[in-house]
Amino acid sequence: MLIAGNWKMFKGPGETEEFARAFSAPDGVDVVIAPPFTSLREAVAAGLQTFAQNVHWADEGAFTGEISAPMLKELGVAGAIVGHSERRQLFGETDDGVARRTAHALEAGLRIIACVGESEAEREAGETEAVLRRQVSVLEPHEQLVIAYEPVWAIGTGRTATPELAQEAHALIKSLLDAPVLYGGSVKPDNAAELLAQPDVDGALVGGASLDPDSFGAICLAASRS
Ligand code: PGA
Repeated sequence: MLIAGNWKMFKGPGETEEFARAFSAPDGVDVVIAPPFTSLREAVAAGLQTFAQNVHWADEGAFTGEISAPMLKELGVAGAIVGHSERRQLFGETDDGVARRTAHALEAGLRIIACVGESEAEREAGETEAVLRRQVSVLEPHEQLVIAYEPVWAIGTGRTATPELAQEAHALIKSLLDAPVLYGGSVKPDNAAELLAQPDVDGALVGGASLDPDSFGAICLAASRS
């Protein structure tokens, strides 16, 4: 089981150190924290398995605002999230860009969590399967690649997918690509166990509930028991 905390644009270096002092991961769970770029060094120094929230497809170049895989590796960062729906929706990232970021970072030796998921309008229009097929089809299998299924309507809304609905989407994704699949979207201590109990749910990508060491610890504990 892999449990990843996506801190988004929360927690500077000081708060990252505070979190690390208060958090302890249970045995038997692969735990990842993805803090903002400016807190990566503190997260690594605190002994957390640390991922970035994005990574570029070139090693260096004229790409204002971007960070490369070698730069992350030099800091001791283990991997990166790519293609989060906030990147796709608010910052114009495309399937092609997500594919290039993923392929390059894997080649550079980083682990990758690549995010896919349909919007509410797409689900209501019956397009969930087509969207997932399109988003997954640009990715190549790799032993360090993990997919996160995050229905956009469940992110930060408190509206979690039902375990059955998550299971259905995860099974579809696994039929398209041989990779572990995490569920993301309003995972909390009180719903983690039933989601993680689904046969094709291999872990969770947690946003809001990962900011608090106790609630993130409780989700990690649910994973260690499932
Ligand atoms: P949430 O975010 O847990 O706050 O819904 C999940 C994510 O965006 O990865």
